[in-house]
Amino acid sequence: MSESYGAMPEIREIPEPEPGDGEVKIEVQASSLNGFDAKLARGFLDGDVEHQFPVILGRDFAGIVTEVGRGVSGFMPGEKVFGVVAKPGLGDGSFGEYVVVPEEIGLAPLPAGLPYRAAGVLGLAGVAALACVDAVAPVHGETLLISGATGGVGHYAVQLAAARGAAVIATAETGPQVDLMHQLGAAHTVDHRGDLAAQVRQLAPDGVDSVIHLAGDPELIADLVTPGGRFSSTLGVNSAQLGDRSLTVTAIEAIPDRIVLDHLATETAADRLRPSIARTYLLDEVPQAFADFSNSGNVGKLAISIGG
Ligand SMILES: NC(=O)c1ccc[n+]([C@@H]2O[C@H](COP(=O)([O-])OP(=O)(O)OC[C@H]3O[C@@H](n4cnc5c(N)ncnc54)[C@H](OP(=O)(O)O)[C@@H]3O)[C@@H](O)[C@H]2O)c1
Repeated sequence: MSESYGAMPEIREIPEPEPGDGEVKIEVQASSLNGFDAKLARGFLDGDVEHQFPVILGRDFAGIVTEVGRGVSGFMPGEKVFGVVAKPGLGDGSFGEYVVVPEEIGLAPLPAGLPYRAAGVLGLAGVAALACVDAVAPVHGETLLISGATGGVGHYAVQLAAARGAAVIATAETGPQVDLMHQLGAAHTVDHRGDLAAQVRQLAPDGVDSVIHLAGDPELIADLVTPGGRFSSTLGVNSAQLGDRSLTVTAIEAIPDRIVLDHLATETAADRLRPSIARTYLLDEVPQAFADFSNSGNVGKLAISIGG
């Protein structure tokens, strides 16, 4: 948890949360770090979102229902579930032994055969990736540049876009990142530490058809899209910021509704969507996971193992 804006996350014993009306209590087995957690811990969301200190960090969870509040009809104790903590304001989180979430948003059953470990890295990044891909709607044969492709959101977006037949150009730095991008279906990789524009222009001289922007300079990247193309961003970039370029721009807000979570879980259980886990940490190693998350060179997700 975090005690103040920008404080180092620390492990602390606190009372178990209890479910209120319409809420479900879950014994957490697995979770993962997201860019959101890192920004929250660093205090970058100060003023943006209402905080209630101490803030329990963590959005993703997979685990088992232990108790339900009054009025809950869709879940029962003993059921395996996964999802994203999506309560308004910040205070409750999933980096703990228990989390309480509302029944109606951010919660879905875990399909048979999908391990906690895989579902624990799926929630927020998967929802954001699907929203990004849906927003730019790539069709077979189109070129799609994904900037930030090697991270949690990006490595899912590469797979979802490649499955629709897009020729994905993925940013990647190191050998392991390049290898993973190709394994996940990217047609090409470009190294964003070099001249990104020149590398992309060599692959797509008239510009790419669309972009998913998860990292990097949005204006430089928008200049690589062909006129009339599409641009989606998880970083709040909107059409006003991109000036008079003739692009369709979508600022993504990842909303973990049941239909989306069910779809992601089905795709993962069927092995059509593959989480890449760079490293797994125990609950008392979460501060180290935050330190590692801010280093570059990770591929995919940093997972947290909590139960058993
Ligand atoms: N709006 C929403 O609803 C929503 C939802 C989910 C996520 N987000 C945001 O989306 C962003 C991505 O999230 P995430 O969880 O995927 O984070 P992440 O795991 O840290 O991924 C970011 C990736 O971007 C790469 N990168 C860094 N600088 C780059 C550059 N200049 N050009 C290209 N790639 C670069 C990083 O590679 P290296 O490790 O090699 O540096 C890393 O692989 C975060 O800012 C997060 O807060 C927003």
